[in-house]
Parts: sequence; structure tokens; C-alpha cells
Amino acid sequence: MNILLLGSGGREHALAWKLAQSRLLENSGDKLFASPGNPGVAEHAELVALELSDHSEVLQFCSAQRIGLVVIGPEAPLVDGLADSLRSAGVPVFGPSKAAAQLEGSKAFTKELCARHNIPTAGFKRVTSASEGLTALDSFAIPVVIKADGLAAGKGVTVAMSRDEAETALAEIFDGRFGAAGAEAVIEEFMEGEEASYFALTDGHTVVPFGSAQDHKRVGDGDVGPNTGGMGAYSPARVLTPLLEGEALERIVVPTVRAMADEGMPYSGVLYAGLMLTREGVKLIEYNARFGDPECQVLMLRFQGDLGEVMLAAAENRLATIDPPRFSDQTALTVVMAAQGYPGTPKAGGAIGGIAAAEAEGAKVFHAGTAMNGDQLVASGGRVLNVTALGARVGEAQAAAYAAAGRIDFADGFCRRDIGWREVEREASGI
Ligand code: AMP
Ligand code: GLY
Repeated sequence: MNILLLGSGGREHALAWKLAQSRLLENSGDKLFASPGNPGVAEHAELVALELSDHSEVLQFCSAQRIGLVVIGPEAPLVDGLADSLRSAGVPVFGPSKAAAQLEGSKAFTKELCARHNIPTAGFKRVTSASEGLTALDSFAIPVVIKADGLAAGKGVTVAMSRDEAETALAEIFDGRFGAAGAEAVIEEFMEGEEASYFALTDGHTVVPFGSAQDHKRVGDGDVGPNTGGMGAYSPARVLTPLLEGEALERIVVPTVRAMADEGMPYSGVLYAGLMLTREGVKLIEYNARFGDPECQVLMLRFQGDLGEVMLAAAENRLATIDPPRFSDQTALTVVMAAQGYPGTPKAGGAIGGIAAAEAEGAKVFHAGTAMNGDQLVASGGRVLNVTALGARVGEAQAAAYAAAGRIDFADGFCRRDIGWREVEREASGI
């Protein structure tokens, strides 16, 4: 069959790489299309220029090319209801409906769902003005967490270490810094613990675990500096032991999927749970309605099944009939090479070389923000490449990823030097 993959980052390159190996594409006429894609995605797919906010344009393409599966990578088209438009037209789609994508698109929606269904998460208050926020703050201890309600490209969350900082964060939200995403805010109790990301595939009813990862959100070594979309990740996150994973599944993910179905918004696609491992147990920080970026890159390196078949089974409500997804026991680790200036204004246009040399070291290099300038591969975004490698243990995966990263020639780029450090320390101390 023909498949259409939507999105343009490192996540989509990893998905394209894995989809291209699917039996769904085994007949000679079968094609993988991607829009808008990037030069890495183009190694596996035919790129097409579609305006993703124009649903009728996407539908016309699907009908003209007899697309049998659409895979939606990023959150914006999901929250915009593209999956609904495709499903109404009978096109199988991997990704949740607009109503279900509220799990990512509205923090207040998710917190209230958790409250209604007794799903463990931080205590919260929902506020609709700065003055209401200031009053509500009185009932929270410091530190306190302030969040814009809607999608804010990962920038809408402040962990405030003082009342002043909390007040400033509230003022910024209600002054319109995040546009419509800041029409409401959520104030949350601060949770202490280590974070882990947990993934599950679901067709709205059946839930299938799909691995764990740990991301590094701060720009600097040692987890300092401003937040980013993620500077590196590794999988699995062993801190999420089988016992804790069971707790996350039974107390958080399964009850959420059941609640969404019961409330008439069945969730279909991948559900990404950001978890805090607290002393009182596993608690939900937030949901994403998509694979993480760069978490997807490490999951795809370890995933041993047929991604197309699994995604189609989720799209066609038959996840209960497939074999459980299998993952390599090895650890995968990815290092993000970013353009100087990121997460502020990244320097665009820097020349990139050495990818073949890096891959000759055994790594897989996924393209995130790259473009072709004539024959030259150049940087065209903040996060530019994801140098990804496997190892028997995290220390080996880290060494392999950095050896490969050392072969990349990207004078205008930088990367963190310590991706995986928590796990490497634990491994070194024999825990
Ligand atoms: P979010 O976008 O909701 O995942 O928040 C971004 C980051 O803020 C998370 O990865 C956590 O590091 C932190 N965070 C969010 N909510 C809380 C909370 N209630 N307690 C402690 N840290 C939090
Ligand atoms: N790496 C974090 C995210 O994709 O949300």
C-alpha cells in the first residue's frame, strides 16, 4: 500500500527509516510519501509539499495516491483535527482525534480528567486571569509550577523557585506571551523525583506498552540553562523498573485510555506519558499525543517489529490481535547536534559534513533541522542532527554515539557532552 508520513523533524526521519522497512511497502508499486519531510526523510520517502492545515488538500492527495495509512508525527495537526478529517473520509490514520489530542493540547483538560478518574498527578488549580492566579498561589507551597494551558512549543512551563518568579510567569501568560495557548493557566504543586517517559500504543481500547526513555531538556551539561525540545535521550529508562512500569500502566495509562473511551473521545495512536517517580509512587506530569522528539529516535533504533503493521493495527482498531511489540535489550542513546544560538535564535545555514563517516562508526544519524543548499547539506533549524547508537549498556551506547558525533563536521553546531549521565553514573556505581 501507499503510506503518507507527516512532519519534518528527527522524529519523522526515524519513523520514515523504520516505515521504509515495513512489509506494507513490499510490493513494487508501494510508495512511502512524506510531507514536508527533510533531506534525511527523503532518503526513504518521496517528499510532497502539502499544506497540512488545509485538510481538503491532504484528503485530495490521499485519494489521488490511494494512501492506505497516514502517520501524523507532530502535535499541531493532531490538535487541529487532521486525524478526524482523514477518518471521516475513510483513510486509516495513526494519531488521535482532535478531542483526544486535548490530552496534549490542554493541560487543564488533562488535569481535570485525572481528577475525575483518580489518576495520580500533582494537585492543581485552573485559573483564567492573573488576579485569580495570584489568589490561587496563596494555597501552594514554593516551588510551584505555572503552565500555560495550550500548546506553547515546550516553553509554557515555569518551575518557579520563588513567589516572585511565579507571579512573573502568570503575568507573562496573561499578557499574551503564548497567544491563545495562554488564555488559561494551570498552577500545580511541585513534584520531586526523577522523570521518565513512557510510551503506549492504543486503538482506543487495547493498550500495548511501547517502551521507555529519558530525555535531557536543558541546553547545558549537568542539566543547566534554558529548556529545549530535548538535547538527547536514551532508551530504555531503567529507572522505570518493571514494577514501576506496571504501576504506570495500571494506575495512569490504562485508566486514561478507559476514561477517554467512556467519555466518548477514544484515544488512538501513541500516548506519551511524562512521569515523575516520586516517593509516594509514580505520578503523571503531562501527556503528549505523539512520539517524543528525540525519544522516538532511540525507540526506533531498539524496536524490532514492523512499524507499518503495528501502526495500521492501531488505526484499524485491531491492536488486540497483534503480537506484543518487541524491543532489543540493548540501550539506544541519541545526541542532538544543535545550531549555535539554540534554544534562542539558531544560526542558520551552517555547512554539515561527515555523516557517512559517523555512520561508518556504527551509528545512525537522523536529520532534524537540515536543508540542501545546492549540493551542500546545511542547518535549517535549532536541533539539526540526532546521532544515535546502540550499546550493550548505556555507557557503551554513549561512547558509540559520541565517537560518531566526533566524526560530524558542523562548525556552527554544538552538543551536550553528558547525555545519559544519570544512568551512566548508576551503571558505574553498580546500581
Ligand atoms: P511539561 O511541559 O508539563 O512536561 O513540563 C515541562 C517540565 O517541567 C517537566 O518535564 C518537568 O521537568 C517540569 N514539571 C512540570 N510539571 C511539574 C510538576 N508538577 N512538578 C515538578 N516539575 C514539573
Ligand atoms: N522531547 C520532548 C518532547 O518531545 O516532548
